[in-house]
Amino acid sequence: MDLSLSEEHLMIRQAARDFAQTELLPGVIERDEKQSFPGEQIKKMGELGFLGMMTDPKYNGSGMDTLSYVIAMEEFSKVDASASVIVSVNNSLVCWGIETFGSDMQKQKYLTRLASGEIIGAFCLSEPEAGSDATSQKTTAIDNGDHYVLNGTKNWITNGGSAEVYLVIAQTDKEKGHKGINALIVEKDTPGFEIGPKENKLGIRGSDTHSLNFNDVKVPKENRIGENGFGFKFAMKTLAGGRIGIAAQALGIAAGAYELALKYAKERKAFGTEIANHQAIAFKLADMHTQIEAARHLVYKAAWDKDNGHNYDLSGAMAKLYASQVAMDTTVEAVQIHGGNGYVKDYHVERLMRDAKITQIYEGTSEIQKIVISREILRKS
Ligand code: CAA
Repeated sequence: MDLSLSEEHLMIRQAARDFAQTELLPGVIERDEKQSFPGEQIKKMGELGFLGMMTDPKYNGSGMDTLSYVIAMEEFSKVDASASVIVSVNNSLVCWGIETFGSDMQKQKYLTRLASGEIIGAFCLSEPEAGSDATSQKTTAIDNGDHYVLNGTKNWITNGGSAEVYLVIAQTDKEKGHKGINALIVEKDTPGFEIGPKENKLGIRGSDTHSLNFNDVKVPKENRIGENGFGFKFAMKTLAGGRIGIAAQALGIAAGAYELALKYAKERKAFGTEIANHQAIAFKLADMHTQIEAARHLVYKAAWDKDNGHNYDLSGAMAKLYASQVAMDTTVEAVQIHGGNGYVKDYHVERLMRDAKITQIYEGTSEIQKIVISREILRKS
């Protein structure tokens, strides 16, 4: 078993690392404070091919594998998890969803622009009363001949105010339960579509999270993804891959906090020596390093499963569950190692700690991952 990365993967890691240091790090504290969307940085990421990493070059993507994507996600997330969630949603949910299940027209019209980063997309599943319980959609998409009429509200939508294209999951036939749900591509300027106020969040404050309102929004039938009633499966299949991206984000947040804590522990002196020389600190670093390495193996394994045509529901959910816990634990310890300095913004670790929490909530809470994992292991036993 060869666990070493190829030359190509190492180059991608270096390119993402360089971009994070030169383009994301400057201004990251200010963007967090002011809740500013990293528009300029996202534009550059698009130009470098990071917004359609796994998309076929014939649709303006970079044609890379999932492993390349998680390697880049880790590097971006070490520095700026707000930027990395924008990258993650565009790559794993929007581009992958349209490329895998969309029609030729949808790929030509939307994917080509999404994968190049000319525009970004949003994935709209959660509702005020349907976050984890995704089949209980209240948003309706009523069949009206050559179009659907969309009504309802979506909540906590990443890229909500900045996207041009929205993948909206809605109920067409309530009687049919999850088999009556459709996924529709909605353009931003469609009449009746309103973007609600921006959420004031604990973490990932540079990302743009909004509620969305649909009031008699007409969506042409040709914008439905897949057959009638495919929307719930579309959401589940797409989210299964999305969870690998968020697991990589969690891994990056943990690794970023660990790297800062390691550096600090080797510089900061107390009781006559660098604090890394005290076992109280050294043992924390040992635990952090071990947990991050274990998380990285789970994330890479899930990416490898996806790249090799294996089912990745289980490995993706395990990677997300574990990496997000490691992100939480590691960032808390990184703040502790920094002491008083860890509690102020200049040292970055308090932001990473706030950013870590969302990885246990979005694209399925930790409890949802446990549902997916337990179902898979029971089904296979
Ligand atoms: N692949 C393919 N099909 C799947 C599937 C998968 N991974 N998971 C479920 N399905 C299918 C099932 O096979 C079933 O189909 P059949 O009836 O034909 O067999 C159908 O979907 C319904 O499945 P379940 O009975 O398992 O559905 P459930 O109601 O019990 O829900 C759940 C399962 C795992 C809890 C699911 O609701 C879920 O994942 N919820 C969490 C949703 C979520 O992640 N929300 C996050 C919002 S998106 C976001 O955060 C994006 C962002 O902005 C960052």
